[in-house]
Amino acid sequence: MDIQVIILAAGKGSRMKSRLPKVLHQLAGKPLVQHVIDSCHLMGANHCHLVVGHGGEQVKNAVRGDHITLSFVEQTEQLGTGHAVQVASGGLKDDVPTLILYGDVPLIHHETLSQLVEIHQNDPKGIALMTCFLEDPTGYGRITRDENNQVTGIVEHKDASEEQKQINEINTGILCCNSSQLKVWVNQLSNNNAQGEYYLTDIIAMAVQEGNQVTTAQPLAMYEVEGINTLRQLAELERVWQLQMAGELMDGGVTFRDPTRFDLRGTLSCESDVVIDVNCVIEGRVVLKEGVRIGPNVYLKDCTIGANTQVKANSVIEESIIDQSCGVGPFARLRPGTHLCDNAHVGNFVEMKKTTLGEGSKAGHLAYVGDSEVGKNVNIGAGTITCNYDGANKHKTIIGDDAFIGSDTQLVAPVKVGKGATIGAGTTVTADVEDRALCVSRVKQTQKIGWKRPTKQK
Ligand code: UD1
Ligand code: MG
Repeated sequence: MDIQVIILAAGKGSRMKSRLPKVLHQLAGKPLVQHVIDSCHLMGANHCHLVVGHGGEQVKNAVRGDHITLSFVEQTEQLGTGHAVQVASGGLKDDVPTLILYGDVPLIHHETLSQLVEIHQNDPKGIALMTCFLEDPTGYGRITRDENNQVTGIVEHKDASEEQKQINEINTGILCCNSSQLKVWVNQLSNNNAQGEYYLTDIIAMAVQEGNQVTTAQPLAMYEVEGINTLRQLAELERVWQLQMAGELMDGGVTFRDPTRFDLRGTLSCESDVVIDVNCVIEGRVVLKEGVRIGPNVYLKDCTIGANTQVKANSVIEESIIDQSCGVGPFARLRPGTHLCDNAHVGNFVEMKKTTLGEGSKAGHLAYVGDSEVGKNVNIGAGTITCNYDGANKHKTIIGDDAFIGSDTQLVAPVKVGKGATIGAGTTVTADVEDRALCVSRVKQTQKIGWKRPTKQK
């Protein structure tokens, strides 16, 4: 879609009571303004002009335009929304329409935007304006209409008469119009109003006076046009969004023990019969295959979990792949590069990193397994540690199929344990172990019969 966007994001956001620029506060794990940029990309816009002011450098460094050209326009003094657009208008192409969005209205949906742009395309000389109806319109600009119900202008709350304050159709601030006209209009604005600001909203009356039509459209959901001014509003909108996400997942067949206690900060795709218990946090890209069950308080980041695997309470899984019918946790920690093959099991207080645990293998309790390749049907006893780090470099541990690693074993890497080998409990393995061998390094047990404990001297 040939469309350019201006995102207004220069405001200070003093009501946030924060040093962080308002538009960088996060919703669903992503800066507010990044949500807006991503919607522009999904709508198919090709260029975003971001108007920055307060904390401009910080905003520039924090946002990405992966599939959309981003340019930053500095508005050093915040003289109003009209002034902000005026500052950005120099960079606009004349022959491509402009869509104006706010950096602190994060949840605008790309389909709603496409609709607004379409309305504008049907009447390229007119303005397409997003409005909505509020029971309590206090604070918002009101839409004024004539006896034929045609829009005549927008009057800001602070400039409105008592009669105009009764109007409950409000300006969301989002609009789409012809760019060459926009440039002319914003250069004609004056700041002769209650706030001494250059109001973008004044272009509506200008357009109407020049004989152009203003067509209004409404968003599908109210939350799409809700702006953030305070941390309370941010928290409220976060919950609205999370419930929306949980709702969509439930529609797709996911069971939530409590959808109000769920946090998605990325994308989650689920096959059927997935069950998610309370207080789970999901980040990055997570895939849960058929029949996966996730226990309470689980953190998942960038991982894929195979069919019928069960992740029990308080487990943390990052950048890992878990195959079918595995068991993880409770209290397991799988760090980046872990791969559990089918039917593998990792129990409580086990940490794994850059390790493949073969089919049917188990590490049930209290172990650290890092930089390792573990074969099939291996049992790793409690207290087993791979000593993978010599203070400078990391080394690999390789364990063959059917090996048995006794409890409290240290595997000093680089080291190999052969297929079917048995390591006795308490062994420190410092050299490779042959297939099917028994390896024990512990001191031989002795006892003194009838030995007396020392007693305290009187
Ligand atoms: C604006 C609208 C009002 C509408 C409301 C919807 C005007 C004059 N009024 O009012 O009709 O109902 O939004 O929320 O447009 N900004 C800049 N530079 C500036 C001033 C503002 O970048 O000089 C940015 C802010 O960071 C913010 C957005 O523009 O993202 C809106 O500004 P704000 O001051 O919140 O406008 P409102 O008074 O809420
Ligand atoms: Mg505002």
